[in-house]
Amino acid sequence: MEKDCSMIRKQLKHRTIREFKNQPVPEEVMEELLEVARRTATSNGMQAYSIIRITDPEQKKVISEISTQEYVARVPELMIFVADQFRNYRIAMEKGTETDKAGDMDRFMQGVTDAAIAAQNLVNAAESLDLGALYMGSILNDAKKLCEVLKLPKFTFPVVGIGIGYPNQDPQLKPRFNNRYRVFENEYIVFDDYLKELKEYDEEMTTYYDLRNANKRVDCFSDQVVAKMMADIKRRSELGKFILDQGFYF
Ligand SMILES: Cc1cc2nc3c(=O)[nH]c(=O)nc-3n(C[C@H](O)[C@H](O)[C@H](O)COP(=O)(O)O)c2cc1C
Repeated sequence: MEKDCSMIRKQLKHRTIREFKNQPVPEEVMEELLEVARRTATSNGMQAYSIIRITDPEQKKVISEISTQEYVARVPELMIFVADQFRNYRIAMEKGTETDKAGDMDRFMQGVTDAAIAAQNLVNAAESLDLGALYMGSILNDAKKLCEVLKLPKFTFPVVGIGIGYPNQDPQLKPRFNNRYRVFENEYIVFDDYLKELKEYDEEMTTYYDLRNANKRVDCFSDQVVAKMMADIKRRSELGKFILDQGFYF
């Protein structure tokens, strides 16, 4: 029997889509995508995540302002994936068990992983249907406000936003560095001179045109690393404190 590799072909063509056609995603497609999220593997079977689908245009606008990315307001379908230990905390309470373990770091990590892999599973499914997808880490630019807007209770944390819709742009594939620097056998390898090792990749990156940035060429990878590592988004530096405010603890 011939293998069906259509999913892999689509995954290898992944590009982030930031502009979408003014065409709604049919409800039956959304239901199927959400069903894929529901079927995703989950740590301990605890399903410690929730998805908040944003259908109110006003709320979408507020989230776009939080993210400081105006194209967020235009995504046809916007979902926030939330690490969620609140539900299981409540279930345990209703069973007569009072525990503060819902907020420990292990459970926080489980919730974040569950949310992240459910999000990626949904993105894969969307891309398999020729829909485009946008991840939004920028929703954390003001996590406190986002939690207020979404009325998130304690033991929850918004991990990432996902936008889905029919693509209205055709971006270039964004170069990635060779797996030699990422995939190791049995033990981690530290290279002596990363700049030298990544020289070719640095050059390749400058051939990439970023549609986000008025279709300009981008800086080489190592310069992007420096800029991103040095960037200091005020409220993001307070994320650790905010996670504690949500009831989690180290
Ligand atoms: C967790 C995560 C958060 C991201 N957050 C944003 C974001 O806030 N805004 C945005 O425009 N792109 C965001 N992206 C998209 C990345 O910029 C993009 O995946 C990366 O530059 C590689 O480009 P490609 O997806 O087209 O291959 C995010 C991606 C991930 C995985």
